[in-house]
Amino acid sequence: MQTILSIENLSKVYASGLRALTNVNLDIARGEIFALLGPNGAGKTTLISIICGIVNASEGSVRVAGHDILADYRAARSLIGLVPQELTTDAFETVWATVSFSRGLFGKPPNPAYVERVLRDLSLWEKRNNKIMTLSGGMKRRVLIAKALAHEPQVLFLDEPTAGVDVELRRDMWELVRGLKANGVTIILTTHYIDEAEEMADRIGVINAGKIMLVERKDVLMRKLGRKQLTLQLDAPLSAIPDGLATWGLELADGGTELIYTYDSENERNDIITLLKNLNEAGIGFTDLKTSQSSLEDIFVSLVHRDPAAASRPAAASVAEYGKGQVTSR
Ligand SMILES: Nc1ncnc2c1ncn2[C@@H]1O[C@H](COP(=O)(O)OP(=O)(O)O)[C@@H](O)[C@H]1O
Ligand SMILES: [Mg+2]
Repeated sequence: MQTILSIENLSKVYASGLRALTNVNLDIARGEIFALLGPNGAGKTTLISIICGIVNASEGSVRVAGHDILADYRAARSLIGLVPQELTTDAFETVWATVSFSRGLFGKPPNPAYVERVLRDLSLWEKRNNKIMTLSGGMKRRVLIAKALAHEPQVLFLDEPTAGVDVELRRDMWELVRGLKANGVTIILTTHYIDEAEEMADRIGVINAGKIMLVERKDVLMRKLGRKQLTLQLDAPLSAIPDGLATWGLELADGGTELIYTYDSENERNDIITLLKNLNEAGIGFTDLKTSQSSLEDIFVSLVHRDPAAASRPAAASVAEYGKGQVTSR
């Protein structure tokens, strides 16, 4: 892996005394899509703001393609595009002027053909001569994306890109992100929508209360997500798992009245039928049986709430509790 962004021992304490980041270490590979997932207030925007030179770190360092963001600010910053969380645009400028100007800010020579392509990709071409103040919220957001891309950055940060945007923009944005990735651009997005991270990211990082809790390839997380549990309500409590059933890795719960089988195989049907046969042969009867599946959401919620038991809760329960696919802090 070729590292394009390297974050070392980064900490941030705001002037108010609030500690927003604690000892963050993270390497991002060139060309990957990295989703930083965390509830509101976790420190996502602070982290991005430090990398983009908007906020000063209290401790630690960041390098972009080897350029230190402090010692070598211009070189580092010219490689980065930022689509900020908040709408901030120059209301009186036209779309064309604001995007072209943004390119110039980073010392890039004019390239009308490139700017045109960006505007067309974002369905902004028809609006190129409109003043930004006349555009809808969704269109303004598109302008922010165009501005971030104007200087052909190698690393693009999208801070909560789809919070509150319409379905069409969301779809266009992901299409754009895929296209950028195909061209070798590295994309780091923050979100509190888990389904978005699941769909888009190569790797997922979970941040909570200023600390990175986990960084994992998405496919590895998805395999964990595929973990399922079968819970049998026994008709008589067991004090121990019989020796004959040792190979199944069964667990007893609820004072020996529940037997839990955790599995992630794709041959689950055959496995379960065999297990039930083995239980029958061992003289173990049950009155009820249920299955549950852990989701990325469970993994996430359990990390964020430091409650390991939550990882094995049925997905349906946690969705109801935390809202559909959205992580909120309580
Ligand atoms: N300029 C600031 N001054 C003081 N505290 C701040 C400032 N900006 C953010 N914070 C605090 O830092 C913490 C992290 O905020 P933020 O990075 O915006 O989180 P996120 O983007 O994950 O929602 C929050 O507790 C927030 O209130
Ligand atoms: Mg934020």
